[in-house]
Amino acid sequence: MPQFINITCATSSNASIQQELTASLLKPAASLSPKFFYDALGSKLFEAITLLDEYYPTRTEASIFEAHNAHIARAVADSGIKTACLIDLGAGNCAKAAELMPFLSPRQYVPVDISVDFMREAADKLQTRFPALDIVGVGMDFSSSLTLPDAVQSHDRVFFYPGSSLGNFSPPDALRFLQQTADSQQGKASGLLLGIDLVKDAAVLQAAYDDAVGVTAAFNKNVLLHANALLGADFDLRQWRHVALFNLQDSRIEMHLEAITNTTVRWAGHERSFAAGERIHTENSYKYTLDGMSSLLKQAGFSHVQHWTDAQGWFGVFWASK
Ligand code: AVJ
Repeated sequence: MPQFINITCATSSNASIQQELTASLLKPAASLSPKFFYDALGSKLFEAITLLDEYYPTRTEASIFEAHNAHIARAVADSGIKTACLIDLGAGNCAKAAELMPFLSPRQYVPVDISVDFMREAADKLQTRFPALDIVGVGMDFSSSLTLPDAVQSHDRVFFYPGSSLGNFSPPDALRFLQQTADSQQGKASGLLLGIDLVKDAAVLQAAYDDAVGVTAAFNKNVLLHANALLGADFDLRQWRHVALFNLQDSRIEMHLEAITNTTVRWAGHERSFAAGERIHTENSYKYTLDGMSSLLKQAGFSHVQHWTDAQGWFGVFWASK
């Protein structure tokens, strides 16, 4: 059985989660961080999103890895990094890393995710598929700090950050995050294998975040159920509708929940009234160009940056090393 380290640091204690949620709901422009999408149901709903026709990122990224996995593995090896340790940021169902295992052959695999129970199940299955692999699962919120526990070998590291999750950070925060992956810890080499969604026709982007079946709407609304559970709040989901739009100026998809009628939400000594039409901002998903991401990676301290894309240029896979 994989070894599991469930890190509860100051930023993930119940009290600080409640403080964070309360503060963001009481701001004049209310928001909820997208990391709160991923409770047990939210993680399943995200999996369902990846199966939607409209949601092209997951299958497009997979097609890039499938077409170029040998090249990618060679690029990693050529940069002098022996993939002793593969650190999978936001591992979720661990499916993407599983596909890469035969090519990167890491000695240690470190799936990291905020949704621990969901990931534990996936890591258990992976252990059966790769019995010799040393798996150390880490349950933590890495959005502010990437400091990993000591049980993670201080060997060469490949950070694996697929799925365009980096797109949830604002560009300055993305830069800070990338800098953390570039900083060599304990003098060991590290590189980053990154998947990022690219700017494209607004209608294609829009449909990917507002699918016909309504799975993305359910995923978005579920954050209110999660907030109810975490805060003891009384959000009534029937009062809220899903809004997704492409903000061209900032090159990002935005998701919001819009109050359908005037409504008041109460929790633990607090209350917040929303007028009909008022929104809670729940997600930004930034879209990059290949050049834009290359420069950001160089700015973060990587001197070698290569990328692969699909025929339509919809998604980019980057290998960045020092
Ligand atoms: C997991 C953050 C990459 O931004 O596309 C999918 C999340 N939100 N549909 C994305 C998401 C709505 C996804 N990321």
